[in-house]
Amino acid sequence: MSQVRQILDMNAFDASLGGEGPVARRLDNLGAASVLFYRQPIEMVAAKGAWMEARDGTRYLDFYNNVPSVGHSHPAVVAAVSAQIATLNTNTRYLVGIVDDYLEALKAKLHIELSNVVMTCSGSEANDLALRVARAVSGKHGIIVTETAYHGNTALVTEASPSALKRSPLPDHVVTVPAPGSAAYGEDIAHGFHASVVAAMETLEARGHGTAAFLADSIFSSDGIFADPAGFLLPAVQAVQEAGGLYIADEVQPGFGRTGDAFWGYERHGIAPDIVTMGKPMGNGFPMAGMAARPEHLAAFCEDVGYFNTFGGNPVAAAAGLAVLRVIDEEGLQDNALRVGAHLKAGLSEIAAGSERVTDVRGAGLFLGVDLGAADGSGAPDAGYTVQVIDRMRAAGVLIGAAGRYGATLKVRPPLCLNMAEADRFIEAFAGAVKG
Ligand SMILES: Cc1ncc(COP(=O)(O)O)c(C=O)c1O
Repeated sequence: MSQVRQILDMNAFDASLGGEGPVARRLDNLGAASVLFYRQPIEMVAAKGAWMEARDGTRYLDFYNNVPSVGHSHPAVVAAVSAQIATLNTNTRYLVGIVDDYLEALKAKLHIELSNVVMTCSGSEANDLALRVARAVSGKHGIIVTETAYHGNTALVTEASPSALKRSPLPDHVVTVPAPGSAAYGEDIAHGFHASVVAAMETLEARGHGTAAFLADSIFSSDGIFADPAGFLLPAVQAVQEAGGLYIADEVQPGFGRTGDAFWGYERHGIAPDIVTMGKPMGNGFPMAGMAARPEHLAAFCEDVGYFNTFGGNPVAAAAGLAVLRVIDEEGLQDNALRVGAHLKAGLSEIAAGSERVTDVRGAGLFLGVDLGAADGSGAPDAGYTVQVIDRMRAAGVLIGAAGRYGATLKVRPPLCLNMAEADRFIEAFAGAVKG
């Protein structure tokens, strides 16, 4: 039986082994909270477009990218941030036009009902606030998440992030459902997932909590990337909403055009979320995140407590966010994600067809999951082999990470500006890495 893994432990440097040089320096500064990629961490010095450059001069194609998603050091974002910070940056209690310009541009991408946006500095803060709003609106306490979900690092959100918990059990008010894949639900994912969510609501009811929120990453990144069939989320979401709970679409990973067919991951399921949370790609690396909600829901929460965030949505964040939205539109990056993503998926699927160890290729746009299995051809998830493939890819100049309940899914997530030649380079490196 494969072992369940924590998301932050996947392909991670083992800090208990100690280190030398820059690694020792980092361990000395961050102690037990150090989280470094790779068993031999890389020191980075620069990045541009889809490429990163290490201290030793090695250039890497970045397929781990979920933050500078319009491309590293994009000149339009750099210029916008530089100009704004040289002019005015302050807390969020003054009227500054660019902040409202940004909020209006962002709202134009959202369902019209979600017309209030609270800006935060991290996805964790956005999810924390979303859960608090859901509790205020529903009058209930319980939360439903998927088995290997990660939603952030505040106390409340960590309780709803099974993938972050190493020893502590989930609290009584959090109930998990298996990720929406064929391993748990067979052919009819929509039906199976709906049944699981309904059972979770019954459990929360029986425990006296009721259901405040179903919180789900619309592409289930840390669960291993589950995008298809489009629409499978709808029945589960409707069941929660009909019972008075809120559906929170966590768009921190799939949002901002990555899935190619839509701007938000939830859109491919034809659902209307009660709350949308967002983060990572929003400022292309400038720390910014947010929560969009219905005015009456936000008002219900604010009746009881005030909410203020010193840095959330400051003028520089607004400048970064506005530049990101413009670049996505002007450079056609959503469409690029669709085209280059389809090419990448086809290439990887071809490799899977000829390999016993590549057991599945899933995903949408430039967000794919590739399952790796045991050498005996049983299809059992193989985390050890996954780390080997990640190391071989690194040796071939490609950066990539892992996800999934057993840490045996490659998370294929390049910047949205990836071109066909770069996609081919990845396909070639992957074919070499899974040979033998
Ligand atoms: C789906 C999802 N939600 C929320 C978060 C938390 O975002 P942040 O790290 O900005 O707090 C993450 C971070 O990895 C995430 O993957």
